[in-house]
Amino acid sequence: MNTTKALTNDEVGILLAAAVHAPSMDNTQPWRFEVAGPVIDVRLDEDLVLPVADPAGRAIRIGLGAAAFNLRVAAAMLGHESTFAVAPDPAEPDLVARIYLSDRSGLIADLSALYGEISRRHTYRGPMLDQAIPPIVISALTDAAEIDGAELHWLDDDATRTLGQLLRQADDLDSHDEDRLLERGRWVGGERPHDGVPDAALGPVPTDPAMVRDLATGLDTPGREHVVFEQRPRIAVLSTGDEDESAWVLAGLALERVLLTATSSVLAVSFLNQALEYPTLRAQVRDLIGGRSWPQMILRIGYPAQAEEHTGRRPWRDATSWVGLEP
Ligand SMILES: Cc1cc2nc3c(=O)[nH]c(=O)nc-3n(C[C@H](O)[C@H](O)[C@H](O)COP(=O)(O)O)c2cc1C
Repeated sequence: MNTTKALTNDEVGILLAAAVHAPSMDNTQPWRFEVAGPVIDVRLDEDLVLPVADPAGRAIRIGLGAAAFNLRVAAAMLGHESTFAVAPDPAEPDLVARIYLSDRSGLIADLSALYGEISRRHTYRGPMLDQAIPPIVISALTDAAEIDGAELHWLDDDATRTLGQLLRQADDLDSHDEDRLLERGRWVGGERPHDGVPDAALGPVPTDPAMVRDLATGLDTPGREHVVFEQRPRIAVLSTGDEDESAWVLAGLALERVLLTATSSVLAVSFLNQALEYPTLRAQVRDLIGGRSWPQMILRIGYPAQAEEHTGRRPWRDATSWVGLEP
């Protein structure tokens, strides 16, 4: 019999407020949470997926993994050890992760240290300063990816140049794909207080070709600033050894640990995932990182040259249900 105490209402609020701060593609926030005593299920909300840009549900599951990671960090801050199972019940394909919390003890050292970074982290789409990332920080980020079984590959100048060509091909495909533009238009641009990516978070338009993804490519977003981007961007590719639904969730856990670790070193990160959304281009990114593992996220990492708005979130309560009585 499980004798672990149920979570209090306050604890659930702290855990799920942290979870919903996670990044998700186009900020659809594709999650639902089910609280049963000391166990929290993270489920995929089929109404919040992106069937055109993400037909297999890969990116969506990465976001769910990131939410599960934030939940574990908040639990650690409250003193709960956590264990988790990815896709624990094949009969329930929407059940992406189940997190089991122990009774409270003391602070859980490593994870709880990241709690303060959860609300500070956000996706940055502006230029980076011309300032190198110290090797010790590069190692910390690489190690962070490995804890959850992923790898972070830092690209050299040649590979970065080749990736630049792949990104331009992806941008070109993106801007001519009516279905994608329609789908993205539902989430990107304008004023969006609770979900999607509002104009204020789109970042500036680069004056020259730059390694950045303009989410508004092909959409109408007038009045954006034009600025010069850094000449030598620092790019890392997060990859996993496997390529299935569970690997994508684990990639999300690893991603969020990398992002929170980066935030703790005042680094900013943007994503260049357009080259992973087309199978032929993704295969070429796979070759760039040695051909042994599957690229899941492309990160541009550096010290931000300007400040940027954060995106909004829907209240966590809207995505939460209780099994049994609400505490
Ligand atoms: C799997 C995944 C893929 C993403 N791809 C991109 C991308 O290619 N370009 C981009 O600018 N942002 C990308 N994002 C970032 C989301 O747009 C961002 O997380 C979301 O808008 C919430 O904003 P925040 O990260 O600032 O909290 C991606 C996020 C995830 C989880």
